[in-house]
Amino acid sequence: MTTKTKIADIEFDSYICNASGPLDSTLEELKDIADSKSSAIIMKSCTIEPREGNPEPRYVRLPLGSIQSMGLPNLGYQEYVDFSPQLKKYKKPIVASVAGLSIEDYEKMVNAFQDSEVDLIEVNLSCPNLEGKPQLAYDLKQTEEVLRRVSSSGKKPIGLKFPPFHDLVHHRQMAYLIEKYKIGFITCINSVGNTLVIDPETEMPVIKPKKGFGRLCGDYIKPIALANVRAFYEVLGDKISIFGVGGVKTGTDAFEFLLAGADAVQVATAFEKEGSGCFSRMTSELEEILQRKGYNSIKEAKGKLGHL
Ligand code: DHB
Repeated sequence: MTTKTKIADIEFDSYICNASGPLDSTLEELKDIADSKSSAIIMKSCTIEPREGNPEPRYVRLPLGSIQSMGLPNLGYQEYVDFSPQLKKYKKPIVASVAGLSIEDYEKMVNAFQDSEVDLIEVNLSCPNLEGKPQLAYDLKQTEEVLRRVSSSGKKPIGLKFPPFHDLVHHRQMAYLIEKYKIGFITCINSVGNTLVIDPETEMPVIKPKKGFGRLCGDYIKPIALANVRAFYEVLGDKISIFGVGGVKTGTDAFEFLLAGADAVQVATAFEKEGSGCFSRMTSELEEILQRKGYNSIKEAKGKLGHL
């Protein structure tokens, strides 16, 4: 029995890896992920210039997850390009994550990673947006312009990281673009934007940026993430690889994403809370579930969700 899988034809030794976001900004952190049972090394979303990010408190743990407004703290894309040869020796897929502040930024960073040692390039269409502008993926025209510019940039597969969509029309519109521009994989979902958690004692929000409006993560968002994976799987089937992300903290969660149609899952909030030991724990839990249910591989169970 194995949980080996593939994303855009790149081999992953197991079904569970880290997500772009927590504990993946510095070379030291990326090496810690490389040394763990995470089946890939996914880097923090980067921008052209290094960024300090937003004022603190900007990340607060909650009973069932977290709320955050980090503001894209990262070392600038060139550092991540330069890290890639040093991470190569760990012999697991390396995934860059790019977060442009403009369409030109996306083009420049994707081109740079095409010439690096990374294996996959995740284009983050759901990163914190410029004030007054929607997240890119909520703007179909802008999304198409990004895809037009990055999709033929080189040989490495390009993926798209999406925010949650709440109307099935939007999954269909995106699916059309995914096929048109031969995208290799999608990642569903990013954190749920513009949520508010209030502390009734202080009569204040729990985070400082944007007067408390932040992105919700963890258990709270799992049903939204599962529905997004399923909606894309229903439209695209096996034509494209799907990463599921959002509230994966046990092998059972990973199995639910597998039934919905995900080829692999990424873990963010549980990794931030538990550290890099979470990957071996969850992989063992998933193996046990598959064994108990008589599945010999990821492929056998993928997309097998029934209905009542
Ligand atoms: C950040 C948050 C995100 O959800 C994302 O996709 C990229 C960056 C951040 O605040 O740093």
